[in-house]
Amino acid sequence: MADNPVRFGIIGCAAIARKLCRAIALAPNATLHALGSRSIEKAKSFAAANRLSGAVKLYGSYGDVLDDPLVDAVYLPLPTSLHAAWAVSAARRGKHVLLEKPTAVDAAELDRILEACQASGVQFMDGTMWLHHPRTEKMMEIVSDRGRFGELKSINSISMFAPSREFFEDNIRVKPDLDSLGALGDLGWYCIGAFLWAAGFELPSAASALPDVTHSSAGVILSCSAVLYWGSAHETAATFHCSFLAHASMDLAVVGSNGSLHLKDFTIPIEEGSASFEFTPGAKFVDLHIGWSAKPEKVLVPAELPQEALMIREFASLVQGIRDSGRSPESKWPEISRKTQLVLDAVNKSIDGGCMLVHL
Ligand SMILES: *[C@@H]1O[C@H](CO)[C@@H](O)[C@H](O)[C@H]1NC(C)=O
Ligand SMILES: *[C@@H]1O[C@H](CO)[C@@H](O)[C@H](O)[C@H]1NC(C)=O
Ligand SMILES: *[C@@H]1O[C@H](CO)[C@@H](O)[C@H](O)[C@H]1NC(C)=O
Repeated sequence: MADNPVRFGIIGCAAIARKLCRAIALAPNATLHALGSRSIEKAKSFAAANRLSGAVKLYGSYGDVLDDPLVDAVYLPLPTSLHAAWAVSAARRGKHVLLEKPTAVDAAELDRILEACQASGVQFMDGTMWLHHPRTEKMMEIVSDRGRFGELKSINSISMFAPSREFFEDNIRVKPDLDSLGALGDLGWYCIGAFLWAAGFELPSAASALPDVTHSSAGVILSCSAVLYWGSAHETAATFHCSFLAHASMDLAVVGSNGSLHLKDFTIPIEEGSASFEFTPGAKFVDLHIGWSAKPEKVLVPAELPQEALMIREFASLVQGIRDSGRSPESKWPEISRKTQLVLDAVNKSIDGGCMLVHL
């Protein structure tokens, strides 16, 4: 297999494409075969800036990447409003699709993409990298341990960063025609995904935005909060806040009836080589309530590759299975994307409706 890696084509030269170029180079099963931009000059300057090998084909259009018969899979870091058109074209031409998040402007568009992938028998995955870090699997061992952790009771998350002034002027994530979901689509996506993950990918029964939403003058969401509820009586709640207006923070707290788990860097680990979280098992207050009976245990999880390279390796191994061994695409990944997008839609709808409760 080592001599038959998955040949990737990248469509678009967004900043995140730099990170994925490196990930493709690091992943054992993948190689960058082609890069397409809207102009050949842009493709050439991206290739020079990232010291891409001369063997990488450079194209001055997105369509040329899809026309290259040697491309097995495409990575699409395009603005969200362009996802449906290009992901559907890619799938129809038999290319496996790795799509940046948020996957689409709404679930109806994502469904068009997923139908095209299914019809062509190609793998779909979105670019949520943290799900591929070994820390995530380690945390799940604890959260699903009913003895030590207990029943899931509450989940909270924040995902924010304060970008530079230029970001607000230039970045696609703050342009209403390109990414109208703004911070909700870019960062709220992670919080919603983390809640679904902790809840065993069970969809919440309802969602409601909170009144603290901030829009840019162009109408893009710059910060917002929301609550998701599970159970017929809304007995389990998850609250998140996402923002382009506050210092970098990526907290996740998952609390069970007999244990709790906390981390501060769940989407991008503070360091690449390993990542940690704290698990506090069965703590009570000591006499006089002046302390706790159990201290948080710090669990350190090494990562053999950066999480984005692990994502590429996982995606590439699924593609190899389909291409070389006639396997079917793995349905888990498109299902996770679809649930995340459905909840995102519900929160967006709640914001539009003045924080009304939206049932899922
Ligand atoms: C491809 O990925 C799979 C799963 O990670 C691994 O078992 C296999 O050895 C990899 N192939 C190569 C060429 O590295
Ligand atoms: C989200 O809200 C915007 C602005 O009101 C609207 O244009 C868009 O269609 C909504 N998207 C979804 C997914 O409902
Ligand atoms: C709660 O956790 C503690 C510490 O892990 C354990 O000793 C205890 O048995 C657990 N309680 C229940 C009800 O499982």
